[in-house]
Amino acid sequence: MNFEEVIKGRYSLRQFDEKKEVEDEVLKEILDMAINAPSACNSMPYKITVATKEKAKLIASKRKLNMNKFAEKAKVIFVIEEDSYNLTAKAGNKITDIDFRSIDIGIMVQNICLAAYSKGLVTCILGMFDEKSIQEIIGTKSPIRLLVAMGYPEKDRDITKKKSVEEIFKII
Ligand SMILES: Cc1cc2nc3c(=O)[nH]c(=O)nc-3n(C[C@H](O)[C@H](O)[C@H](O)COP(=O)(O)O)c2cc1C
Repeated sequence: MNFEEVIKGRYSLRQFDEKKEVEDEVLKEILDMAINAPSACNSMPYKITVATKEKAKLIASKRKLNMNKFAEKAKVIFVIEEDSYNLTAKAGNKITDIDFRSIDIGIMVQNICLAAYSKGLVTCILGMFDEKSIQEIIGTKSPIRLLVAMGYPEKDRDITKKKSVEEIFKII
């Protein structure tokens, strides 16, 4: 798969093959690609917990408003904690008054999704979950910003209708 195929091919899928585990070696390769993401002042203000097997199911069961039940069939759940800034990023934050940490996390999470897709896996980012319960499971007090559900696909992709380039770009 070339770069364009990965970028254009990635999609969210909510149906995972329950019979096929994600190999440890593949997980390691995905994490290596994930942490190559840029971040403000190279702060990398996140911690990543990779939950598999029963722990993945347990984390996915901690839902908010009963949303995202499909994630219980995912073979892997990435839990993305926000970590503190490094000193340079803290100083930058004082000057700009912008907290870049969520942006940094978003970029890194996109790397996870693209890396997974390049390895034949599918993902779905989850923004809705019971944060407190998951903090207890992984043993942290830091904010949990996103989960990523991952597995081999059980079916073909759903078509996601995107806005057109004309709707969101302007050249000046
Ligand atoms: C920050 C963020 C939070 C999301 N939260 C959820 C979620 O809680 N449940 C879900 O099914 N999809 C969630 N998604 C996936 C989006 O619905 C999906 O990316 C969007 O519909 C575009 O589809 P695509 O990923 O196939 O291009 C989330 C995506 C992002 C970036």
